[in-house]
Amino acid sequence: RARRAIDEHARMVADFPAPGIDFKDLTPVLADPVGLSSVVTALTHGCRGIDLVAGIDARGFLLGGAVARELEVGVLAVRKGGKLPPPVHSTSYTLEYGTAVLEIPASGIDISGMRVLLVDDVLATGGTAVAAAQLLGRAGAEVIGVAVIMELDGLGGRATIAEGLGADLPVHAVVNG
Ligand code: PRP
Repeated sequence: RARRAIDEHARMVADFPAPGIDFKDLTPVLADPVGLSSVVTALTHGCRGIDLVAGIDARGFLLGGAVARELEVGVLAVRKGGKLPPPVHSTSYTLEYGTAVLEIPASGIDISGMRVLLVDDVLATGGTAVAAAQLLGRAGAEVIGVAVIMELDGLGGRATIAEGLGADLPVHAVVNG
């Protein structure tokens, strides 16, 4: 059902946000009632023993809250740099296009010892997922799974995650694109 909704609603945009990049816009999938519910259910597939869902800025936020609700756990937003008040855990990383910073709060929440499911819309080079997982690790949590709607083939995301976070870490993509 999720796959059908993605096929039906996903929009491919050439040369965005930079020449040569094919942008996969999943916004119409999430705006569709069947699309959202089927994708959220698919993202939770096989999930066991999760204490917390972490959603990556920005489209991962939409999914993270819904997936957390489905798993009956809390949600944490992994923010782009400069959005959170201090103190923060911070890391910079290389993206498919340019560099970026990710941050999570270093005060007010205690996620140490928590088993975390990392959620995002797209897995491309894998740099964002690895950086987010390392950031959560710095706060004492452990990412025990990565779930995305779409894994882009040919960009090495899965290999980068295996290299950065361990080959045993489950990476679940609802579709490949
Ligand atoms: C996109 C996507 C992932 C990331 C994947 O986000 O939503 O978070 O890129 O890329 P990677 O696997 O090569 O690291 P983007 O940086 O475009 O940010 P946005 O969600 O705020 O638009």
